[in-house]
Amino acid sequence: MAEQKPSSLHIESRLSEKRLFKPSKIFSAAARVGSAAAYDKLYKASIKDPEVFFAKQAEELYWHKKWRKVLEWKAPMAKWFIGGKLNASYNCLDRHLDGWRKTKAAIIFEGEYGDERTLTYQQLHHEVCKAANMLTSLGITMGDRVAIYMGMTPELVVAVLACARIGATHSVIFGGFSSEAIRDRVNDAEAKAIITADGTFRRGAVVELKKNVDGALRITASDTLTGCPTVENVIVLKRTGIDVEMVEGRDHWWSELMKEASHNHKAPAIDSEHPLYILYTSGTTGKPKGIVHTTGGYLLGAHLTTKYIFDLRDDDIFWCTADVGWVTGHSYVIYGPLSNGATIMMYEGAPNFPTFDRFWDIIERRKVSVFYTAPTAIRAFIRAGDDHPNKHDLSSLRLLGSVGEPINPEAWMWYHKIIGKGKCPIVDTWWQTETGAIMIAPFPGATPTKPGSATKPFFGIEPQVVSKEGKPVGANDGGYLIVKKPWPWMLRGIYKDPERFEKQYFTEFPGLYFTGDGARQDKDGYFWIMGRVDDVINVSGHRIGTMEVESALVGFSGVAEAAVVGRPDDVKGSALVAFVTMKSGAESSDEIKSKLRNHIASEIGSFAKPDDIHFTDALPKTRSGKIMRRLLRELATTGNVKGDTTTLEDFSVLEKLRTVEDEE
Ligand code: WTA
Repeated sequence: MAEQKPSSLHIESRLSEKRLFKPSKIFSAAARVGSAAAYDKLYKASIKDPEVFFAKQAEELYWHKKWRKVLEWKAPMAKWFIGGKLNASYNCLDRHLDGWRKTKAAIIFEGEYGDERTLTYQQLHHEVCKAANMLTSLGITMGDRVAIYMGMTPELVVAVLACARIGATHSVIFGGFSSEAIRDRVNDAEAKAIITADGTFRRGAVVELKKNVDGALRITASDTLTGCPTVENVIVLKRTGIDVEMVEGRDHWWSELMKEASHNHKAPAIDSEHPLYILYTSGTTGKPKGIVHTTGGYLLGAHLTTKYIFDLRDDDIFWCTADVGWVTGHSYVIYGPLSNGATIMMYEGAPNFPTFDRFWDIIERRKVSVFYTAPTAIRAFIRAGDDHPNKHDLSSLRLLGSVGEPINPEAWMWYHKIIGKGKCPIVDTWWQTETGAIMIAPFPGATPTKPGSATKPFFGIEPQVVSKEGKPVGANDGGYLIVKKPWPWMLRGIYKDPERFEKQYFTEFPGLYFTGDGARQDKDGYFWIMGRVDDVINVSGHRIGTMEVESALVGFSGVAEAAVVGRPDDVKGSALVAFVTMKSGAESSDEIKSKLRNHIASEIGSFAKPDDIHFTDALPKTRSGKIMRRLLRELATTGNVKGDTTTLEDFSVLEKLRTVEDEE
């Protein structure tokens, strides 16, 4: 069938966005929060006394022991539900087994090649109990860290919930990361075990997960098994059947251990502030940060936001397309929906395999009703043409969501018309790895939406746009997005680095949480996120620290200096552009460029490969020696520099850089 011409993708100025979409009467009538007035009332109450509000909401979770104090706040450290004890796995599973939900589907899974499996709550509970016993049999106990590096199969959910069940802090590593990146994360977390798979199917090929883990465990290609000295055991799920090396005594097949494990497991009571997980994310320095989330507050956030923003019902099939390797997968594939007793759709592979209609095909066949994806995926779908969605019956959909980066109004409109057929509210949800769960988003039955705006804050959340000096700015003025008060699902720190935690988030605006994002708030109080104001770039919804890529580049022999900036990209949101100076005598050729790209793939992962690499004799610097990334950004984006250059140390550098661009 002929491809339809893709719509143009340019990003309009959001200041001129005047469209307003009210929730339909039918949707509002059935929604948990059914009008703007109802939202305002609840929100005001939540802000007036957040402790009372959250204490009431926390009763929705099952607590082995009730807390004695709701909040202890001494910036930057928050503690929520102090003295309370609960179990996240129990909340996601056991408590649904009393009534009819025990035979309800928890996970509907589809592999990339079409293999299917459904696990009821009862079955998922059975597997998680076995896996909890399996981990215990390997000597893993409360407080140990376990790394998980798997594909999107139900066993990944089982592994996560088994860790949570015994109080082992999980650290899920996205399957796209390289051996080097795995090693850094495993060593920083001092993980005692790694749970992985032989491989996973992705875009018609096998991602060799175990091989990447082996690479992390070795220092070099030799057999020295000391790359990750804390790792005692590796559990390997057989998914693809490819050949893998198994090291006697250290590596175990998942199926063999599970066969031995009992399915009886009593979930222990775990302290509310016990670390549930560590998730590494990019920041403004070369080293990824281990964001720590604890049990009670985090689970409450995942639970409440899923309930209200996705307005889930027992007959919904909820599909969040994110990989569990990212925070979105933690909160909206696992903890949020399962704690609500919902049915999740889980798909292993790529959106364009075998063709670009795979997602729409799954929605039609599986009757997905709530669909949550990223703007970068939406833009790729626009590009692939409307025929793909148009040949499928998408009438099961009732609500759509977006996350990960600002959604441009044009992509929003396409999502609304072509996927939602004009009848599904769109929830554009702003949040971060650090915030743990949704912070700003429409309530689908209550908040009129404006394409491109994440709209209004969630209950108990007080975001604000401030100037450099920390003063609130006027309506429509751009500024820095901060959060004024602590909230239950906020990060509790950077693993083993309290100084960096304070400096990164609470120093710029003392005592206030700084998001790292720029934003403006319009006269109706709607938030419009303008993107990162630090050195973090959002590429296809993946957060990449420019410093991380730069330090990998300078680790390549012959590279003297490197600067990485982002430039707008129609599909990816931003593309990475690297400016590289070579040591004298070192070669700078197309071959070196491709070697540099491969080097990044092996140091970080393929998704972090720069789109453009420019060799240059020198980088533009200030007199104090700081690289002027702003100039490079301008150059990468427009091919020219018009902004203020008065702080440049050496003006000839700019001239040379301009010629570099001309030659390209
Ligand atoms: C960006 C993903 C605009 C933002 C959940 C944030 C967004 C970073 C949105 C966090 C949105 C996320 N609108 N920007 N709806 N959602 N972002 O940690 O820059 O991978 O700071 O968490 O993504 O990315 P992270």
